[in-house]
Amino acid sequence: GAGGAGLRAAIEALSQGARVGVVSKSLLGKAHTVMAEGGIAAAMANLDQADNWRTHFRDTMRGGKLLNNWRMAQLHAQEAPDRVRELEQWGALFDRTENGEILQRAFGGHTYRRLCHVGDRTGLELLRTVQDRSVQLGVDVYMECAVTRLLKDGDRVAGAFAYWREQGRFVVFKAKAVVMATGGIGKSYRITSNSWEYTGDGLALAYDAGAELLDMEFVQFHPTGMVWPPGVQGILVTEAVRGEGGVLRNRLGERFMQRYDPKKLELSTRDLVARAIYTEVKEGRGTEHGGAYLDISHQPAEWVKRKLPSMYHQFLELADVDITRQPMEVGPTCHYMMGGLRVEAETAATMVPGLYAAGEAAAGLHGANRLGGNSLSDLLVFGRRAGLAAVQYAGRAPDPSLSDDQIAEAARELLVPFERSGG
Ligand code: FUM
Repeated sequence: GAGGAGLRAAIEALSQGARVGVVSKSLLGKAHTVMAEGGIAAAMANLDQADNWRTHFRDTMRGGKLLNNWRMAQLHAQEAPDRVRELEQWGALFDRTENGEILQRAFGGHTYRRLCHVGDRTGLELLRTVQDRSVQLGVDVYMECAVTRLLKDGDRVAGAFAYWREQGRFVVFKAKAVVMATGGIGKSYRITSNSWEYTGDGLALAYDAGAELLDMEFVQFHPTGMVWPPGVQGILVTEAVRGEGGVLRNRLGERFMQRYDPKKLELSTRDLVARAIYTEVKEGRGTEHGGAYLDISHQPAEWVKRKLPSMYHQFLELADVDITRQPMEVGPTCHYMMGGLRVEAETAATMVPGLYAAGEAAAGLHGANRLGGNSLSDLLVFGRRAGLAAVQYAGRAPDPSLSDDQIAEAARELLVPFERSGG
């Protein structure tokens, strides 16, 4: 996977002196990481000095209904600030406070203003930064190359069998360690913020190789995707709109979150806000196209364009809506998979020797529901840990051997459809 988690793992492994190849069925830098637009959650306490890792830990556990792997939640909250500072040293350009510190904004379920951001393009800036860094460190990149099977040597992982999407030719990768950073399953829903890549390939590959899956029933629906026009249905409307003061109203003009979470209102957790919008629509109080209104037009126009430049252009170009003057129409969209590969907290190791997982492909940190902004900090913290543990393992593991039978079987599987005489 060539998104944030894969590249962060690659950076760590490269800096330890390993030779690293990143294999992606898509393109370098084309990843769901960019759909975490509003920020990276890290208790830096730049604006709210009372913030600290313990509060971030507690918020994450509460958001996940206490079904999280607590050790992962602890490591995540403790290490996120360092991972953000490191990103900045590598060239990420964050928005800043008047004192020149990294600016942080409010997000649902976070007690304090905690999301370090770059307007509403944070995931893009993160990805640009780790992409530059890994290329600088000498990563080998194999793009448009789809893995169809993980290869093994006895119990341990030994590489991967793949084909080049452009020519259909087969390729075998031999590797002492493999990190799955292949994202989630979001494209299995019709209304989704995910692009074509997110079909759960990595989860299936690792499962077939003997890894365990966890929490597969926990799929996150982001409360605000576009609902109109039909061709753009599901495209993400960042939570940063609500973090910057956007309010939700139904067709009757009611600020309905007062009924569902009178304290946190629009900044309640995603599961709750998504269910609230769904309920309003089902009970007949939805908008013309079956959603809710999200309005930020009470804020000064220039300020909105500066804080939310992508949202401004997205709505103007795709829906002919000027968000500095008009409300947006929004509704839930499939966004994230909390479930995935079961990993060990410290090392991101799966049950299969030599096989690691990080980012959305790994499960545990977020429990039953992820807080916004925790995905970018997750991929930085556990991408690094996976890369480090993979290198340590590779350093002590003997060279794997790949049997010809295994490779021939992987090739045969792919050729079967061409050899069928009917059906
Ligand atoms: O709404 C957003 O900007 C998404 C953030 C996230 O999923 O972490």
